[in-house]
Amino acid sequence: MRVLDHIGIAVGSLERRLAFYRALGLEAAAVEEVPSEGLRVAFLPVEGTSIELLEPIGPESPLAAFIAKRGEGLHHICFRVADIRSAMAELKKNGFELVGDEPRRGAHGCLVCFIHPRSAGGVLVELSQPEG
Ligand code: CO
Repeated sequence: MRVLDHIGIAVGSLERRLAFYRALGLEAAAVEEVPSEGLRVAFLPVEGTSIELLEPIGPESPLAAFIAKRGEGLHHICFRVADIRSAMAELKKNGFELVGDEPRRGAHGCLVCFIHPRSAGGVLVELSQPEG
């Protein structure tokens, strides 16, 4: 069965939003910068999955544009895959639109790709292959 690896939520300020999630009983297990994506991310473990809070590092971060246009909130859902290249090839073969042709290096060294919301009923879907 597929694993829902995490749910990504766009936030303007990690510190401010972490206070909210702490009040819900969730703590950040790790905070990490992903400079290639212009992001700082915090992973909050939840039974069987995680919440990923995504904060733009600077105004040129694509996430800063997302927040300016749509506000903070749900950004993407991420499924774990064993072989991201074969998953991408299968999706392309079936006519689904990916964001970029090659997997990218995401948080914790995972290889990730995104399926365009145009192809996914308005939801940004990430696939993630764990490192190693
Ligand atoms: Co993610």
